[in-house]
Formats: sequence, structure tokens, C-alpha cells
Amino acid sequence: MNTSVNIADVIFKNPVMTASGTFGSGMEYSNFVDLNKLGGVITKGVANVPWEGNKVPRVVETYGGMLNAIGLQNPGIDKFVERDIPFLKNYDCNVIVNVCGRSIEDYVDVVQKLAYEDGVDMLEINISCPNVKEGGIAFGQNPDNAYEVTKQVKKYAKQPVIMKLSPNVTDITEMAKAVEAAGADAVSLINTITGMKIDIEKQTFALANKTGGMSGPAIKPVAIRMVNQVANAVNIPIIGMGGISTYEDAIEFILAGATGICVGTANFFNPLATEEIVAGIEAYMKRKNVEDINDLIGLVNK
Ligand SMILES: Cc1cc2nc3c(=O)[nH]c(=O)nc-3n(C[C@H](O)[C@H](O)[C@H](O)COP(=O)(O)O)c2cc1C
Repeated sequence: MNTSVNIADVIFKNPVMTASGTFGSGMEYSNFVDLNKLGGVITKGVANVPWEGNKVPRVVETYGGMLNAIGLQNPGIDKFVERDIPFLKNYDCNVIVNVCGRSIEDYVDVVQKLAYEDGVDMLEINISCPNVKEGGIAFGQNPDNAYEVTKQVKKYAKQPVIMKLSPNVTDITEMAKAVEAAGADAVSLINTITGMKIDIEKQTFALANKTGGMSGPAIKPVAIRMVNQVANAVNIPIIGMGGISTYEDAIEFILAGATGICVGTANFFNPLATEEIVAGIEAYMKRKNVEDINDLIGLVNK
């Protein structure tokens, strides 16, 4: 039985990865999850300099999910290279570094610093974080800007580039087509959906940032719809995410057109979710007599 997939010539032993920002760099989870069993770890977003993030409260629960407005708090690329990459090199799974920035120069700076890190297999460029003023989303909601940032990043990147798309747009296929035209090697989607919660006791916003990004099981149907639309619009591989908490969810994304899948918010309520999903996909393939997982990718479109 073959569970391995190829994303931009990087071979993953299985399609299961961790969604950026929900798994750190794997250090805290490595007591629960055997990282060697995962296809890849996608790290928390890292910028060229440390970012403090937003004021608290910055996470709150919602029905079937949560809202977060972390604001991309991170230690900066230098600390990340010194601390996180050596840790991840101990494991036999692909390492994808998620990159954030406030300007094209910020993104390029990080990409250049990672160019000769042999422990980094791919880059995921976050142009879709809804929680940072002028950062990320300024690129993720306008196809021309998305094209430009992709073009510049591709000029300097030594690893294949995944562009992470925002669902907070009228037509996500426009964005996918723009980054594909600029040379993106793959796309990942979806990032969080902008939402809001009011604290009725305090009679104010539940999050200091007022709005936050919604994630978790409740957003899955939106994510599946967008993955399927993008699968029918571009030829580059798709990494799908948004509400995946079981193997059934993962299979849905694969059938809709995703080559890889990420587990995000589910890690918070079930730290074992990733490993369980790997085992569940294998059991499903046996039960359905599927010899090669690649036969399932986008099957509903065929
Ligand atoms: C607390 C938190 C932090 C996140 N941080 C990042 C980040 O740094 N970069 C990024 O591209 N996405 C980030 N995301 C978005 C996730 O990677 C993912 O796209 C989204 O949560 C949908 O998947 P899920 O419903 O499985 O969580 C974050 C999500 C959460 C919940």
C-alpha cells in the first residue's frame, strides 16, 4: 500500500502535516506524538525580526471551533534557525517553515536567511493572516499583490514555495491563479475566517483585537468547498486544511482535491490527532482496497 505523496518534488511519507501556529515547531507535542510518523511539520509563522503579537485576550472558544488573534507573535528568524531547525532535524519528517511579513522585503529577508538551511524542505508563505494590521492579508486579498509577493519570494527561494491563501475573499480561485502564474509550487488553504465574539457580561469584544480568525471543525465545509474550487482552477498541488480532526475529514479533503492535509485546531483538543489520522487513513485504504493514496486525490472531480 502506498501512502506517500509528491508535492513539488518533495516526497511525503503520508499526506498528514501540522497546520502552522497550532503545533509550534513540534517540541511541546513531541512528548505525545512521534513526529517520525508524520508527513511533515509546518512551523509557526516566523518573521525577519521578533514580533510581540497582539494584546490579550487573544483566543476564545466558539461553537465547534475558536477565534484567535495572536498577531503572529514569533521570536524572529535568527532565534528560529538556532533553536527550532536543529530540533526538527532529529526527525524523519519534512520540515516546512511558515513565513510572515509586513512587506515584500520582510518576506524576502526571511527566505534568504533560510536559503542554505539544509533542514528546511519547503517554505509556506502566509499572505493570509487576518489579525495583523497591514501584514499578510494586504497581500492575500488582492491578486496583483499576491502575484508580486510570490514572484519576489520565488526569485530568492531555494526551496519549493507554498503560498497560503485566505478564505476572506470573494473568489479564492482568482488568488490561486495569481500565485500559480507567479510561479508558486503549491498552494495551501484555508487560513482562518474572520469572525467576532462579544462578551455579554463585560459588554465588550471578547478579543482585544475585536476580530479574530475562526478555525476548527465548524469551518470544514467552507474549506472543502474552497479546496474543490481551487483544485478545478489550478494545476499545482493543494495542501488542504480547515477543521480536520479525524481521518474521515482528511479523506474528504483528499477526495475534494488536496494532495496534502494539515491538522490545526484539533491538536488543541486532541494532541494525538495527527498520529490517529495517519493510522485512520491507512485503515480506510485497506477497507476500501485502495493501493495508492494518489488514486484518491481529487477523485470526486473525475
Ligand atoms: C492559534 C492559531 C495560530 C495560527 N497561526 C498561524 C500562523 O502563524 N501562520 C499561518 O499561516 N496560519 C496560522 N494559523 C492558521 C492555521 O494554520 C490554519 O490555516 C487554520 O487554523 C485552519 O485550520 P484548522 O481549522 O484545522 O485549525 C493559526 C491558527 C490558530 C488556531
